[in-house]
Amino acid sequence: MIKYGISKLISCMLILAITLTVSLAGCAEEGQKIAFFKYKGGDTFISEMMGYMTARVPPGVAFEVRDAGNSQSVQNQQIVELVSGGFDLLVINAVDRLACSSIIEKCAVEKIPIIFFNREPPEDALVGSDVFYVGADTDSMGKKQAEMVAELFGGDFVGSKFDKNGDNVVQTVILKGEQGHQDAEKRTDNCIAHLKSLGYSVDVMAIEVADWNRRDGYEAMKLLFEEYGDSIELIFSNNDDMALGAIDYLLDEGIFSQDKTVYEQSIVVVGVDGTEVGLEAIEKGLLYGTVNNDYKKQSDAILTLVDYILSGDSFRDFPYSITRGHYIYFGGDIITKANLEEYLSIS
Ligand code: GAL
Repeated sequence: MIKYGISKLISCMLILAITLTVSLAGCAEEGQKIAFFKYKGGDTFISEMMGYMTARVPPGVAFEVRDAGNSQSVQNQQIVELVSGGFDLLVINAVDRLACSSIIEKCAVEKIPIIFFNREPPEDALVGSDVFYVGADTDSMGKKQAEMVAELFGGDFVGSKFDKNGDNVVQTVILKGEQGHQDAEKRTDNCIAHLKSLGYSVDVMAIEVADWNRRDGYEAMKLLFEEYGDSIELIFSNNDDMALGAIDYLLDEGIFSQDKTVYEQSIVVVGVDGTEVGLEAIEKGLLYGTVNNDYKKQSDAILTLVDYILSGDSFRDFPYSITRGHYIYFGGDIITKANLEEYLSIS
């Protein structure tokens, strides 16, 4: 009887302890301060992500945002200032991925945890128990671009309206994001490799770097069009903004028309991100499709990390899977005009 009473008491205490642990999870304290660092303002995807994320910082936690204007030395300076300014955690979109190691060293001295996002630190840089990275599962995005194109082209590419010169080879150009950025490198490699593995012969006529932005996408398209003209059958763009720059040029030259459907435009253009402007271009029949770079899921994971780190929780019940001890990745969905409405209704 006594034995039963004691074991019951122990199990009650256990339940109480578990309940307390669970309810403590995610309780950042009043008065804590965090800082967000972005590599530069004016990047469409980063602006949308920052808008979503900063609107959801846990109540009671103060925050500041710094814009490095695409300069690592400016960002270093900003980090040094805030590290000595009593901040409890830094959320960093590094300008240069190779600078992460020295950022980690600086913060480790003051025992300040870091969550990097979007610009992935090399694996040997991510050391320490309170250093994380959250970003896109970049391997899958180029593959999804290829899948969406293969589905459009169907089994019979040769002789189809997409094979404009009838040679059964896909003549493509690539608009590449920033050199050395993990997303630019992997999306570029994977879209081509995967289209080939799906059975298509592919001729990559040129790869132009356009640094993620619309203006450079326009200029890159101008160069490409002057050289290859209407022989271009497909444009793989590493993101939506560069794709939109290319489309702006094609509209200015009268190659694309606002009055045509996406199936009637003479070049297929696909992007990545699913930004508001990207989705609008799909709606208008200009951009064939995109792969969602899911900043909502990425931001939710960052904010959950913020909560766990600030509340000192043990991570036992942490709801996201952490790869190699530090990395949290999210894949994204293919969006074309065919599923745009459905996508908008659930996102
Ligand atoms: C990529 C995104 C680009 C750009 C870049 C900045 O993931 O697709 O549009 O925002 O990050 O690092």
